[in-house]
Amino acid sequence: MTSPDHALNRATAAPSAPALTDRFGRPLRDLRISVTDRCNFRCRYCMPREVFGPNFAFLPRDEILTFEEITRLARIFAAHGVRKLRLTGGEPTLRAELPKLVAQLHGIPGVEIAMTTNGSLLRTLAAPLAKAGLNRVTVSLDSLDDAVFRSMNDVNFPVALVVEGIDAATAAGLRPLKVNTVVKRGVNDHTVVELARFVRDRGHILRFIEYMDVGTTNGWRMDDVVRGTEIVERIDAALPLEPVEPSYHGEVAKRWRYRDGSGEIGVITSVTQPFCGDCTRARLSAEGSLYTCLFAAQGTDLRALLRSGPEDDAIAGALRTVWTARDDRYSELRAAGTPNLHRVEMSYIGG
Ligand code: GTP
Ligand code: 5AD
Ligand code: SF4
Ligand code: SF4
Repeated sequence: MTSPDHALNRATAAPSAPALTDRFGRPLRDLRISVTDRCNFRCRYCMPREVFGPNFAFLPRDEILTFEEITRLARIFAAHGVRKLRLTGGEPTLRAELPKLVAQLHGIPGVEIAMTTNGSLLRTLAAPLAKAGLNRVTVSLDSLDDAVFRSMNDVNFPVALVVEGIDAATAAGLRPLKVNTVVKRGVNDHTVVELARFVRDRGHILRFIEYMDVGTTNGWRMDDVVRGTEIVERIDAALPLEPVEPSYHGEVAKRWRYRDGSGEIGVITSVTQPFCGDCTRARLSAEGSLYTCLFAAQGTDLRALLRSGPEDDAIAGALRTVWTARDDRYSELRAAGTPNLHRVEMSYIGG
């Protein structure tokens, strides 16, 4: 199948956006939208089952934003400079009727729509999502070794089904497809070269992510982090690499290409080489709170505003107030060894 003809929703001119920058001059460009707080996996670095067990209180339905509410907010964000909407979770494909949301978001001019998913349901959902206007997917896949993969997702989910999901997404035209791999020492680091070969041979882009201290629930230790530089050395030894310039301002992944021209990889070094200086991201949680950092302890409740009936102008005013006051740079402060840095209770980043 060829790429969908609506590939980038750029045919219509982008609305004129008032320049909105934060205290460090960083513009607002990306909005990560969590469409559900639930996930069918229990990756230990994200939703460990001791915390997210059968008694964990996930959000009741009426506390989650409706598609209309998400779309209304996304329009306001787009009018303030957002150019990429990324659907995340939990696991976004668990949200019922997700293609309907994508179709609504597709009506917003000037934005690209991407999704970060664990790929478990892509086999059936890739085609309807692409048809509804989804442009790209990033699939989280930590290892091709079935035993390693099953133990990392901690629900015994087989890797073969994720691979089928990746192939379905490719066939549906959701390209370029990226694969995200969180590397944990002693867990999956011995499988990174095999994964790099597989992703390259299928023509996709692999990004390795340094294991992060998201929330306080994942038992994070620096010893478990495999530094981006070490990952690059390991891949380079088997499949020679050279560095590449970023493809856009604020890109989180550092890019490397195979010297034989067969593709590229990325390394996301949030721990060892933070990139807060270029961070253009905001995050909307499933219950409608706006966060200006992955590690922000507190959000701004936009759902209350949406549901108490004010005009779009009032919501836009709240967004402008929050973004212009933004001074987050958690990863940089942590890397600099800042004492008394707040540790965040936020449970997981999703996807
Ligand atoms: P592209 O649009 O393809 O460049 O995707 P992306 O990198 O913006 O999105 P994705 O959800 O795939 O993010 C990849 C990973 O980078 C996430 O899993 C996080 O681990 C990390 N990451 C993304 N955004 C941030 C951020 O703002 N801060 C930190 N510290 N890490 C981030
Ligand atoms: N450290 C690094 N990456 C993480 N992700 C989830 N939790 C963590 C963590 N603690 C990754 C997921 C997904 C992306 C959105 O974030 O694997 O690919
Ligand atoms: Fe952006 Fe916060 Fe991540 Fe820094 S730590 S890159 S400010 S999300
Ligand atoms: Fe689910 Fe993604 Fe978190 Fe794993 S990393 S538990 S797949 S949301």
